[in-house]
Amino acid sequence: MQHLSIGGQLHHKQLNVGAALKRHGVTFAVEQMKGISPSAWGYRRKGRLSVRYVPKKGGVLVGFREFEKSYVTDLKQCHTLVPELSALLPSLKAQLQQLSGRESIPQIEIASGTNVLAIIVRYLAPCSEQDLLQLISFGREQNVRVYLQSGGPDTIVPLEKQGEPLTYRIRASGDTIKFLPTDFIQVNDVANQEIVESVLQMLAPTSRDRVLELFCGLGNLTLPVASSIERVVGVDYDDGLLRRAKDNALFNHKDNVEFIHADLTENPPGQWWAVEGFTKLLLDPPRSGALEILTAIVPTLAPERIVYASCNPETLARDAALLTARFGYRLEAIRVVDMFAHTGHVETIALFV
Ligand SMILES: C[S@@+](CC[C@H](N)C(=O)[O-])C[C@H]1O[C@@H](n2cnc3c(N)ncnc32)[C@H](O)[C@@H]1O
Repeated sequence: MQHLSIGGQLHHKQLNVGAALKRHGVTFAVEQMKGISPSAWGYRRKGRLSVRYVPKKGGVLVGFREFEKSYVTDLKQCHTLVPELSALLPSLKAQLQQLSGRESIPQIEIASGTNVLAIIVRYLAPCSEQDLLQLISFGREQNVRVYLQSGGPDTIVPLEKQGEPLTYRIRASGDTIKFLPTDFIQVNDVANQEIVESVLQMLAPTSRDRVLELFCGLGNLTLPVASSIERVVGVDYDDGLLRRAKDNALFNHKDNVEFIHADLTENPPGQWWAVEGFTKLLLDPPRSGALEILTAIVPTLAPERIVYASCNPETLARDAALLTARFGYRLEAIRVVDMFAHTGHVETIALFV
């Protein structure tokens, strides 16, 4: 996408959102869509890098895998990572080069909180005592929290007893969100601040509101919304995220928040939501959208407003058709946030009334 200016990329994404809506029979003029491109470069605060030991190329390569190939392109810097993660790449590579188990490391995950950086080192063989000590001193020298991963996501362990967790702050509400480096977070912090503010504007929360939030994750939207309403209930199916969400609510003194575990695709939750008197609905589903749960609850819940944050225009358009043509809502506003400049990805926030 780099052949287009940043403004051109945003316009292209707005046209894509408009075209997806049109395919599903929903009309919304592209000129009416608000758009924002918050950051062209240095925006990713999380990433996964491939590692490969190739002696004839000088040793350990750290970078991204080439398109449809298994070669790793070595990186000295990365313009899409936030500067502090990009700056870590040379010392990280030098450190991996010194490990006796360097051939057993296929990937590294990196994450940046406002307070500290983190890396997760995937080890396919047991990590030697000597390598452990080297990684511990690397973490201390660089102020990086180091984790080891021997298998699936539940095998990730910190190398040293946990200090403070990684955090980021939400400008609109002053909330501090604590997270683990493997947790789902919106990877572009500047864009996330815009998304939170757009959601608050569109939801227009008042003190009598009771909000149901589907696909709530860590509470990134839940806690800011809770600041000005009577009650908010967040639903997600990830136990780890829900544990952190509850902890985040406590930490930020939000006692009008509840989090509930449910799989919103397979088993739309019982009927508890029908007796809560929810006035507004907020949702931020994965790429597959929210057709099942919207079909199951919207006719009974009949919220005054639905604010829908989406990372996939195609499923947003499909679900918008359901809400407008079948359930009688009007698509009132759309905001397009270019969260991932130079890629085809687009984040959209839509308001239905
Ligand atoms: C795009 S993220 C949004 C998270 C949160 N709103 C945020 O801003 O960080 C989507 C969330 O949907 C959850 N999720 C995905 N599929 C789900 C399902 N079938 N049932 C419940 N939650 C699901 C994921 O765990 C994730 O937290």
